[in-house]
Amino acid sequence: MNHRCCLTALGVYTPEHILSNNDLCALVDTSDEWITSRTGIRFRRKMADTETTSDMAVAAARQALERASLQVSDITHIIVGTCTPEKLCPSVASLTAGKLGAGHCMAFDFNAACSGYLYGLSICRGLLLAEPQARILLICAEAMSRRMNWSDRSTCVLFGDGAAACVLSADANAPLAVLRDVLCAGDGSLGRLITFGGGTEHVRNVGDPIGEDYFLQMQGREVFKHAVRRMADICQEALSRNGLSIDDVDVLVPHQANMRIIEAVGDRLHIAPEKVFTNVADYGNTSAASVPLALDDALGKGAILPGQRVLCTSFGAGLTWSAALMEF
Ligand code: COA
Repeated sequence: MNHRCCLTALGVYTPEHILSNNDLCALVDTSDEWITSRTGIRFRRKMADTETTSDMAVAAARQALERASLQVSDITHIIVGTCTPEKLCPSVASLTAGKLGAGHCMAFDFNAACSGYLYGLSICRGLLLAEPQARILLICAEAMSRRMNWSDRSTCVLFGDGAAACVLSADANAPLAVLRDVLCAGDGSLGRLITFGGGTEHVRNVGDPIGEDYFLQMQGREVFKHAVRRMADICQEALSRNGLSIDDVDVLVPHQANMRIIEAVGDRLHIAPEKVFTNVADYGNTSAASVPLALDDALGKGAILPGQRVLCTSFGAGLTWSAALMEF
């Protein structure tokens, strides 16, 4: 059996509308200086009112399929990582499959929040072991703007919308990258630190108002500490169980949540800052889409080159965190 998990191609989509820090000053009491110095974020994308999570997923998937020279009929599974689905049912994956005309392929969503992409790689690696013929579209799509409390300055400045997709298979001839290892972890006892509602927690009746808990709420300081510690630790674990050191890593692609978190993770890992790819300034935190959007951006800018070893890491609500080693 072929044990490879190959990334054939990536595709991305970000909404056209750019929201700058100055735009946010019109909504909440904040400043470009505060946001930039505390987070490194300058811009984020905001989807149109008519756009949905699956619209973004479809756009990213189409680009990935085109770059992989595949038809949607070649795809056996569509798996979507999202914490901002447009409906609880049907899944974004099913809606995406319908819009793509994917026929009878297996389709489902999972929610690992900002760790979605790496958790998704872990799921797909397992699937490819069981079904080596599978050709999987793994998509991460997030409509974060729909769950922002636009009067909460401590959270609404941090997030952005976007989607990224990749095709994964066991047998690609000239893969874009090979997944060497992926580790996923979490701590459900800390779930209260990042939440948003809108599920079945409360009994509701037609016409009931939505409460503040529908929107994202976060204990920023606590999250910051966990994010730094957990991402640095799981990166170390991924390296050591593969007999590697940080010097063997050409590029670190961390979750793009916050520049200060990224710098602190880099410091803990003792990796040279020039090896750390960031685009948080342009997109903010796009949750599950953040790592694959950054990978695509890094490839486009020549910051990841063929033959290079890339370490990815992510952290998010749950809490969840993860690390993956890839060879491009
Ligand atoms: N503009 C201006 N002031 C703001 C602000 C904003 N956008 N957001 C918060 N503040 C204020 C607070 O109201 C507070 O004011 P006060 O002292 O008068 O009460 C002050 O800034 C400090 O707030 P605090 O929350 O302690 O700031 P901080 O230094 O921890 O920075 C975050 C806030 C959110 C930037 C920081 O905690 C963080 O990055 N956390 C991680 C968040 C994250 O990335 N989560 C996603 C992980 S997947």
